[in-house]
Amino acid sequence: PAATRHEAENAAITLGVVESNHAGHSGTGFVNFDNVAGSGIEFTLTAASAGTATLAFRFANGTTANRPMDVAVNGSVVAAGKAFNGTGAWTTWQTTTVSARLEAGTNTVRLTATTANGGPNLDYLEVGA
Ligand code: GCU
Repeated sequence: PAATRHEAENAAITLGVVESNHAGHSGTGFVNFDNVAGSGIEFTLTAASAGTATLAFRFANGTTANRPMDVAVNGSVVAAGKAFNGTGAWTTWQTTTVSARLEAGTNTVRLTATTANGGPNLDYLEVGA
């Protein structure tokens, strides 16, 4: 099946704001996380069946410093300190993926910044089977 896109601007944001001042984003904007550890976002999504899914995060990081985030699915960290490396510009968007098990029905996918720089700018999560 086709991947399902979940725009960051529609998810539950912790310590961040929706902005649209950097071109190239999907939807109406992206999330600019506060530059603080603990900033993050939680997506709630529905899976038709249990199994391994590819979680693709589209982001931009106009700095040269990695902005790692913990990736948690249904409350369990599946990728600690996942790298969101510099993309060269705030208008240059890249995708990074995590493979994780989803359960049939409702699931949560949460990203939490682990350093004082906070997260990158996040455009969307795309979930593929
Ligand atoms: C700049 C940029 C923001 C970004 C921020 C940051 O202010 O315009 O989009 O989120 O840097 O460093 O996080």
